[in-house]
Amino acid sequence: MTLGEVLKGATDYLASRGVESPRRDAELLLARALRLSRIELYTQYDRPLTDAERAAARALVQRRGKREPLAYVLGDWDFRRLTLKTDARALVPRPETEIVVERCLALLEAIESPRVVDVGTGSGAIALAIAQERLNARVWATDSSPAALELARENAEANDLAVEFREGDLLAGLDGPFDLVVSNPPYVEAGELDALEPEVRDWEPREALVADGQTERLVHDAQRVLVGWLVLEVHEARARIVSQDLEAAGYASVAIVQDLAGRDRVVEAWWGTTQSTH
Ligand SMILES: C[S@@+](CC[C@H](N)C(=O)[O-])C[C@H]1O[C@@H](n2cnc3c(N)ncnc32)[C@H](O)[C@@H]1O
Repeated sequence: MTLGEVLKGATDYLASRGVESPRRDAELLLARALRLSRIELYTQYDRPLTDAERAAARALVQRRGKREPLAYVLGDWDFRRLTLKTDARALVPRPETEIVVERCLALLEAIESPRVVDVGTGSGAIALAIAQERLNARVWATDSSPAALELARENAEANDLAVEFREGDLLAGLDGPFDLVVSNPPYVEAGELDALEPEVRDWEPREALVADGQTERLVHDAQRVLVGWLVLEVHEARARIVSQDLEAAGYASVAIVQDLAGRDRVVEAWWGTTQSTH
Protein backbone atom coordinates (compact mmCIF):
# COMPACT_ATOMS: atom_id res chain seq x y z
CA MET A 1 0.00 0.00 0.00
CA THR A 2 1.27 3.47 -0.84
CA LEU A 3 1.40 6.36 1.59
CA GLY A 4 -1.39 8.05 -0.37
CA GLU A 5 -3.64 5.00 -0.06
CA VAL A 6 -2.99 4.76 3.69
CA LEU A 7 -3.75 8.48 4.05
CA LYS A 8 -7.05 8.08 2.22
CA GLY A 9 -7.96 5.00 4.25
CA ALA A 10 -7.16 6.78 7.51
CA THR A 11 -9.20 9.83 6.47
CA ASP A 12 -12.24 7.71 5.59
CA TYR A 13 -11.94 5.74 8.83
CA LEU A 14 -11.72 8.88 10.99
CA ALA A 15 -14.68 10.41 9.11
CA SER A 16 -16.71 7.25 9.78
CA ARG A 17 -15.89 7.62 13.49
CA GLY A 18 -17.30 11.17 13.53
CA VAL A 19 -13.97 13.01 13.83
CA GLU A 20 -14.52 16.66 12.94
CA SER A 21 -11.50 17.23 10.65
CA PRO A 22 -10.57 13.74 9.43
CA ARG A 23 -8.17 14.76 6.65
CA ARG A 24 -6.15 17.16 8.81
CA ASP A 25 -5.99 14.66 11.67
CA ALA A 26 -4.99 11.80 9.34
CA GLU A 27 -2.20 13.97 7.91
CA LEU A 28 -0.90 14.95 11.34
CA LEU A 29 -1.04 11.37 12.64
CA LEU A 30 0.66 9.86 9.61
CA ALA A 31 3.30 12.57 9.58
CA ARG A 32 4.02 11.80 13.25
CA ALA A 33 4.02 8.00 12.77
CA LEU A 34 6.31 8.20 9.74
CA ARG A 35 8.46 11.06 11.13
CA LEU A 36 7.72 13.21 8.10
CA SER A 37 6.50 16.79 7.66
CA ARG A 38 2.99 17.23 6.26
CA ILE A 39 4.53 18.39 2.95
CA GLU A 40 6.61 15.22 2.75
CA LEU A 41 3.41 13.16 2.91
CA TYR A 42 2.68 14.57 -0.52
CA THR A 43 6.20 14.44 -1.96
CA GLN A 44 6.28 10.73 -0.94
CA TYR A 45 2.63 10.09 -1.79
CA ASP A 46 3.29 7.13 -4.12
CA ARG A 47 5.91 5.46 -1.94
CA PRO A 48 4.90 2.01 -0.65
CA LEU A 49 4.96 1.84 3.16
CA THR A 50 6.79 -0.88 5.05
CA ASP A 51 4.84 -3.14 7.41
CA ALA A 52 6.42 -1.36 10.38
CA GLU A 53 5.35 2.05 9.03
CA ARG A 54 1.80 0.87 8.47
CA ALA A 55 1.62 -0.59 11.97
CA ALA A 56 2.89 2.67 13.49
CA ALA A 57 0.32 4.69 11.53
CA ARG A 58 -2.50 2.30 12.39
CA ALA A 59 -1.78 2.49 16.12
CA LEU A 60 -2.17 6.29 16.16
CA VAL A 61 -5.17 6.40 13.82
CA GLN A 62 -7.02 3.77 15.85
CA ARG A 63 -6.54 5.78 19.03
CA ARG A 64 -7.95 8.86 17.31
CA GLY A 65 -10.82 6.73 15.99
CA LYS A 66 -11.81 6.12 19.61
CA ARG A 67 -12.14 9.91 19.81
CA GLU A 68 -9.10 10.36 22.00
CA PRO A 69 -8.08 14.04 21.62
CA LEU A 70 -5.59 14.61 18.82
CA ALA A 71 -3.25 16.34 21.27
CA TYR A 72 -3.17 13.27 23.53
CA VAL A 73 -2.47 10.93 20.61
CA LEU A 74 0.29 13.16 19.27
CA GLY A 75 1.61 13.68 22.80
CA ASP A 76 2.35 17.37 22.33
CA TRP A 77 0.53 20.52 21.36
CA ASP A 78 1.48 24.09 20.52
CA PHE A 79 0.41 26.91 22.80
CA ARG A 80 1.65 30.38 21.82
CA ARG A 81 5.45 29.93 21.43
CA LEU A 82 5.57 26.73 23.48
CA THR A 83 5.32 23.10 22.54
CA LEU A 84 3.77 21.39 25.55
CA LYS A 85 3.60 17.72 26.37
CA THR A 86 -0.10 16.76 26.45
CA ASP A 87 -1.72 13.67 27.91
CA ALA A 88 -4.69 12.59 29.99
CA ARG A 89 -3.21 14.12 33.16
CA ALA A 90 -4.43 17.60 32.15
CA LEU A 91 -6.69 19.60 29.87
CA VAL A 92 -5.44 20.24 26.33
CA PRO A 93 -4.53 23.95 26.19
CA ARG A 94 -7.06 25.79 24.00
CA PRO A 95 -6.56 28.62 21.49
CA GLU A 96 -8.92 30.89 23.47
CA THR A 97 -6.62 30.58 26.47
CA GLU A 98 -3.91 32.25 24.38
CA ILE A 99 -6.07 35.40 24.63
CA VAL A 100 -5.97 35.12 28.43
CA VAL A 101 -2.16 35.22 28.23
CA GLU A 102 -2.36 38.15 25.81
CA ARG A 103 -4.42 40.14 28.33
CA CYS A 104 -2.04 39.25 31.18
CA LEU A 105 0.97 40.47 29.21
CA ALA A 106 -0.81 43.72 28.33
CA LEU A 107 -1.85 44.37 31.94
CA LEU A 108 1.67 43.63 33.22
CA GLU A 109 3.40 45.92 30.76
CA ALA A 110 3.88 48.83 33.16
CA ILE A 111 5.12 46.68 36.04
CA GLU A 112 8.88 46.23 36.31
CA SER A 113 9.23 42.80 37.95
CA PRO A 114 5.73 41.37 38.13
CA ARG A 115 4.73 38.60 40.52
CA VAL A 116 2.15 36.36 38.95
CA VAL A 117 0.18 33.28 40.00
CA ASP A 118 -1.69 30.91 37.67
CA VAL A 119 -4.41 29.05 39.58
CA GLY A 120 -5.34 25.62 38.18
CA THR A 121 -2.35 25.46 35.86
CA GLY A 122 -3.10 22.07 34.24
CA SER A 123 -0.35 21.45 31.67
CA GLY A 124 1.28 24.68 32.86
CA ALA A 125 0.22 26.52 29.70
CA ILE A 126 -0.59 29.99 31.11
CA ALA A 127 2.18 30.09 33.71
CA LEU A 128 4.83 28.88 31.28
CA ALA A 129 3.76 31.24 28.49
CA ILE A 130 3.97 34.21 30.87
CA ALA A 131 7.35 33.04 32.19
CA GLN A 132 8.58 32.73 28.62
CA GLU A 133 7.16 35.92 27.16
CA ARG A 134 7.53 38.34 30.06
CA LEU A 135 11.06 39.09 31.16
CA ASN A 136 11.62 39.54 34.90
CA ALA A 137 8.30 37.93 35.84
CA ARG A 138 8.31 35.65 38.86
CA VAL A 139 5.64 33.04 38.31
CA TRP A 140 3.88 30.64 40.66
CA ALA A 141 1.37 28.01 39.58
CA THR A 142 -1.07 25.89 41.59
CA ASP A 143 -3.28 22.91 40.93
CA SER A 144 -5.30 20.59 43.14
CA SER A 145 -4.43 17.67 40.83
CA PRO A 146 -1.04 16.06 41.56
CA ALA A 147 -1.10 14.43 38.09
CA ALA A 148 -1.59 17.78 36.33
CA LEU A 149 1.21 19.33 38.39
CA GLU A 150 3.53 16.51 37.45
CA LEU A 151 2.85 17.24 33.76
CA ALA A 152 3.28 20.99 34.31
CA ARG A 153 6.66 20.37 35.96
CA GLU A 154 7.74 18.21 33.02
CA ASN A 155 6.73 21.00 30.66
CA ALA A 156 8.65 23.59 32.68
CA GLU A 157 11.75 21.44 32.56
CA ALA A 158 11.41 20.61 28.85
CA ASN A 159 11.06 24.29 28.02
CA ASP A 160 13.71 25.38 30.51
CA LEU A 161 11.39 27.80 32.30
CA ALA A 162 11.28 28.65 36.00
CA VAL A 163 7.86 28.41 37.64
CA GLU A 164 7.20 27.62 41.31
CA PHE A 165 4.55 24.92 41.53
CA ARG A 166 2.26 24.33 44.51
CA GLU A 167 -0.26 21.56 45.04
CA GLY A 168 -3.44 22.69 46.75
CA ASP A 169 -6.81 24.38 46.60
CA LEU A 170 -6.79 27.65 44.63
CA LEU A 171 -4.37 30.04 46.39
CA ALA A 172 -3.75 27.94 49.50
CA GLY A 173 -0.26 28.41 50.89
CA LEU A 174 0.48 31.54 48.87
CA ASP A 175 0.75 34.89 50.60
CA GLY A 176 1.35 37.42 47.87
CA PRO A 177 1.27 40.25 47.21
CA PHE A 178 0.80 39.41 43.54
CA ASP A 179 0.50 41.85 40.67
CA LEU A 180 -1.65 39.39 38.82
CA VAL A 181 -3.74 36.34 39.61
CA VAL A 182 -4.81 34.49 36.47
CA SER A 183 -6.97 31.41 36.13
CA ASN A 184 -8.77 29.28 33.62
CA PRO A 185 -10.88 27.45 36.19
CA PRO A 186 -13.25 24.60 35.35
CA TYR A 187 -16.39 26.26 34.00
CA VAL A 188 -18.63 23.55 32.53
CA GLU A 189 -21.79 22.89 34.56
CA ALA A 190 -22.23 19.18 35.42
CA GLY A 191 -25.46 19.09 33.41
CA GLU A 192 -23.68 20.42 30.31
CA LEU A 193 -21.07 17.66 30.23
CA ASP A 194 -23.15 15.14 28.25
CA ALA A 195 -23.61 17.60 25.38
CA LEU A 196 -19.85 18.02 24.88
CA GLU A 197 -17.79 16.28 22.19
CA PRO A 198 -16.53 12.79 23.19
CA GLU A 199 -12.95 14.11 23.04
CA VAL A 200 -13.74 16.38 25.97
CA ARG A 201 -16.43 14.45 27.83
CA ASP A 202 -14.79 11.01 27.74
CA TRP A 203 -11.08 11.83 27.83
CA GLU A 204 -10.18 15.08 29.56
CA PRO A 205 -10.00 15.09 33.39
CA ARG A 206 -13.38 15.75 34.92
CA GLU A 207 -11.86 17.94 37.63
CA ALA A 208 -10.45 20.17 34.88
CA LEU A 209 -13.87 20.62 33.28
CA VAL A 210 -16.70 20.67 35.78
CA ALA A 211 -17.21 23.82 37.83
CA ASP A 212 -17.45 23.44 41.56
CA GLY A 213 -17.64 27.07 42.61
CA GLN A 214 -13.94 27.77 41.85
CA THR A 215 -14.62 31.02 39.96
CA GLU A 216 -16.81 32.43 42.73
CA ARG A 217 -14.32 31.43 45.44
CA LEU A 218 -11.43 32.88 43.50
CA VAL A 219 -13.17 36.26 43.22
CA HIS A 220 -13.18 36.28 47.01
CA ASP A 221 -9.85 34.54 47.77
CA ALA A 222 -7.77 36.61 45.34
CA GLN A 223 -8.47 39.74 47.42
CA ARG A 224 -6.25 38.34 50.17
CA VAL A 225 -3.14 38.19 47.96
CA LEU A 226 -3.74 40.76 45.25
CA VAL A 227 -2.55 44.27 44.65
CA GLY A 228 -3.20 44.15 40.95
CA TRP A 229 -5.21 42.33 38.33
CA LEU A 230 -7.45 39.28 38.44
CA VAL A 231 -7.83 37.74 34.97
CA LEU A 232 -10.35 34.90 34.57
CA GLU A 233 -11.27 32.77 31.59
CA VAL A 234 -15.03 32.27 31.73
CA HIS A 235 -17.84 30.44 29.98
CA GLU A 236 -19.19 32.86 27.38
CA ALA A 237 -22.67 32.69 28.88
CA ARG A 238 -21.40 33.64 32.34
CA ALA A 239 -19.07 36.56 31.63
CA ARG A 240 -21.70 39.07 32.68
CA ILE A 241 -22.50 37.30 35.94
CA VAL A 242 -18.81 37.01 36.83
CA SER A 243 -18.25 40.70 36.11
CA GLN A 244 -21.25 41.59 38.29
CA ASP A 245 -19.78 39.43 41.08
CA LEU A 246 -16.47 41.26 40.76
CA GLU A 247 -18.16 44.65 40.96
CA ALA A 248 -20.22 43.58 43.95
CA ALA A 249 -17.01 42.40 45.67
CA GLY A 250 -15.49 45.86 45.22
CA TYR A 251 -13.13 45.29 42.29
CA ALA A 252 -12.46 48.25 39.97
CA SER A 253 -12.01 48.51 36.18
CA VAL A 254 -14.06 45.37 35.53
CA ALA A 255 -14.02 44.52 31.82
CA ILE A 256 -15.06 41.68 29.53
CA VAL A 257 -12.74 40.72 26.66
CA GLN A 258 -13.87 38.71 23.65
CA ASP A 259 -12.04 35.90 21.89
CA LEU A 260 -11.29 35.87 18.14
CA ALA A 261 -14.75 34.43 17.45
CA GLY A 262 -16.35 37.41 19.24
CA ARG A 263 -17.40 35.40 22.30
CA ASP A 264 -17.15 36.85 25.80
CA ARG A 265 -14.22 34.86 27.10
CA VAL A 266 -12.11 36.77 29.62
CA VAL A 267 -13.10 38.90 32.58
CA GLU A 268 -10.49 41.13 34.16
CA ALA A 269 -10.63 43.41 37.17
CA TRP A 270 -8.40 45.41 39.47
CA TRP A 271 -8.10 44.91 43.22
CA GLY A 272 -5.89 47.06 45.42
CA THR A 273 -5.41 50.44 46.93
CA THR A 274 -3.88 52.27 43.99
CA GLN A 275 -4.11 51.46 40.32
CA SER A 276 -0.77 51.53 38.53
CA THR A 277 -2.03 50.97 35.00
CA HIS A 278 -5.18 51.10 32.85
C1 LIG B 1 -9.88 24.23 32.81
S1 LIG B 1 -8.41 23.48 33.45
C2 LIG B 1 -7.20 24.70 32.96
C3 LIG B 1 -5.82 24.17 32.77
C4 LIG B 1 -4.82 25.19 32.20
N1 LIG B 1 -4.72 26.37 33.06
C5 LIG B 1 -5.23 25.61 30.81
O1 LIG B 1 -5.72 26.74 30.65
O2 LIG B 1 -5.05 24.83 29.86
C6 LIG B 1 -8.64 23.78 35.20
C7 LIG B 1 -7.54 23.28 36.10
O3 LIG B 1 -7.87 23.67 37.44
C8 LIG B 1 -7.57 22.62 38.32
N2 LIG B 1 -8.44 22.79 39.50
C9 LIG B 1 -9.73 22.45 39.65
N3 LIG B 1 -10.17 22.80 40.89
C10 LIG B 1 -9.12 23.38 41.51
C11 LIG B 1 -8.93 23.93 42.83
N4 LIG B 1 -9.95 24.00 43.70
N5 LIG B 1 -7.73 24.43 43.14
C12 LIG B 1 -6.69 24.38 42.27
N6 LIG B 1 -6.81 23.86 41.02
C13 LIG B 1 -8.00 23.37 40.65
C14 LIG B 1 -7.81 21.36 37.53
O4 LIG B 1 -7.11 20.25 38.07
C15 LIG B 1 -7.33 21.78 36.13
O5 LIG B 1 -5.97 21.47 35.96
